[in-house]
Amino acid sequence: MKVEALPVTKGDYNLADYDQAYESFDWKEVEKEFSWSETGRVNLAHEAIDRHAETHRKNKVALYYRDPERNEKYTFADMKKLSNQAANVLKNFGDVEKGDRVFIFMPRSPELYFSILGAIKLGAIVGPLFEAFMEGAVRDRLEDSGAKVLVTTPELLERVPVDELPELKHVFLIGDGVKEDDVHIDFMAKFKEASKKLSVEWVDREDGLILHYTSGSTGKPKGVLHVHNAMLQHYQTTKWVLDLQEEDVYWCTADPGWVTGTSYGIFGPWLAGASNVIVGGRFKPEHWYKTIEDYGVTVWYSAPTAFRMLMGAGDEIVKQFDLGSLRHILSVGEPLNPEVVRWGMKVFNLRIHDTWWMTETGGQLICNYPSIEVKPGSMGKPFPGVKAAIVDDQGNELPPNRMGNLAIKKGWPSMMRQIWNNPQKYDSYFMPGDWYVSGDSAYMDEEGYFWFQGRVDDVIMTSGERVGPFEVESKLVEHPAVAEAGVIGKPDPVRGEIIKAFIALRDGYEISDELKEEIRTFVKKGLAAHAAPREIEFRDKLPKTRSGKIMRRVLKAWELDLPTGDLSTMED
Ligand code: WTA
Repeated sequence: MKVEALPVTKGDYNLADYDQAYESFDWKEVEKEFSWSETGRVNLAHEAIDRHAETHRKNKVALYYRDPERNEKYTFADMKKLSNQAANVLKNFGDVEKGDRVFIFMPRSPELYFSILGAIKLGAIVGPLFEAFMEGAVRDRLEDSGAKVLVTTPELLERVPVDELPELKHVFLIGDGVKEDDVHIDFMAKFKEASKKLSVEWVDREDGLILHYTSGSTGKPKGVLHVHNAMLQHYQTTKWVLDLQEEDVYWCTADPGWVTGTSYGIFGPWLAGASNVIVGGRFKPEHWYKTIEDYGVTVWYSAPTAFRMLMGAGDEIVKQFDLGSLRHILSVGEPLNPEVVRWGMKVFNLRIHDTWWMTETGGQLICNYPSIEVKPGSMGKPFPGVKAAIVDDQGNELPPNRMGNLAIKKGWPSMMRQIWNNPQKYDSYFMPGDWYVSGDSAYMDEEGYFWFQGRVDDVIMTSGERVGPFEVESKLVEHPAVAEAGVIGKPDPVRGEIIKAFIALRDGYEISDELKEEIRTFVKKGLAAHAAPREIEFRDKLPKTRSGKIMRRVLKAWELDLPTGDLSTMED
């Protein structure tokens, strides 16, 4: 497929020359950016907050927070004191010590961020949970991790089976009407009284920082453990990929229950001393554009589903807001359809920069940088200091344009260090040759750009042709009637598999056989006859993870009448 590359817009970017950086960069250089390179005392929360509170950034706004009820801002000096207070509450009333698992289960609020930072200052391992988790999902995670402390709200408490979790010793409640007993503690009452001073717990770079549960294709969700050393990656990618500079106002739309909401919603931006916008509440196109306008957001990191929803809301809304502050837009989490990139050029006059990484990788690995050409549909090129390749099932590197396993050479700073309680699972990620194998299939073109094809297990083989479901889905959403599409291979006695598409229509379109035929022809014409779905089924909504990925596994289960498996990561 030939695509038109989008040229670089001239600018003063942190990463001016990608090729040169790729040749010469060494992670050792990044260590100089942290105070521990001189003091020997390591703690990510200290580097992200306290250190800036002693510099010219002291009175710089670190956090702009808003939701339908609150509208607040905090400087780095404020953040230092407030996270110290949270740490003191957790320490004095929850006995939190280095290595303890402290889980946070609540909607976004400033206190959520104070608590995460406070727990890290104590050397604890933080486990953030999406507020939408129901009881089973909460139990699985608290049980598997042996969580000792939980911070939640009175409303969410009913989804926490405290009596069935013997290792859970203290539950802090943030909200009104807290009834205290041996286990339950009123967080805010203690917080108000707590000292603003704290001696931070110094840790080893390899000590645990955060535990994100994520689902694979099989089994229960697994606990991916990251360590303080990941800050090297958080910091440098924030510099070179997000391109954060001193005057920027940055907005990452992700919830901290997802790795993007921690690595790039908390750690990266604050390590770089940036002003960080955090918005609670539900998604609404008007609110999103208004956020950009009100704060003068300059750098914006979101996800394809959100962009597609904005696209679906129409271009007229965009015109009602002044979005002139925006200078750099990025995306992560699922394939970024070329159609969305073209829409971005049309309405924002900016390129949307795709980035590829995973919960397991802790930070960005393959990206589009402001100073390189963007090829719409490509995830970009490996970050300097990162070796990426396409390998076969034995770990042999494949030449350009051959589809295979997307693999990364072990040794980047933010690589996961453990699957909690499951060393076998951890080992299963690696192949001979020190390759970390992502489970994604992709190819690399002659110019070193990587192109996502699908999860390894999702690739469809129909009449001997390999078809990546993403390619078909991308084409489908280009049709004006299609809001979202998920494509699977359905077993077929003659063709091996046939392509089946599940489609949610945009508002104002009616289901009909004519429309089905029209959509099929559209793909046939736009992509290839063999790529056109033989079957189309319309649904009001498609099953998606909270991070916006269509859950093809669930579509497959619907289709084949199989159990859907673990649904804890599925959005409402
Ligand atoms: C997918 C954490 C295409 C991919 C950030 C990966 C992507 C999985 C992209 C990780 C991208 C992520 N293009 N696919 N730019 N980024 N993915 O851990 O399949 O929730 O393996 O993401 O998302 O999902 P996770």
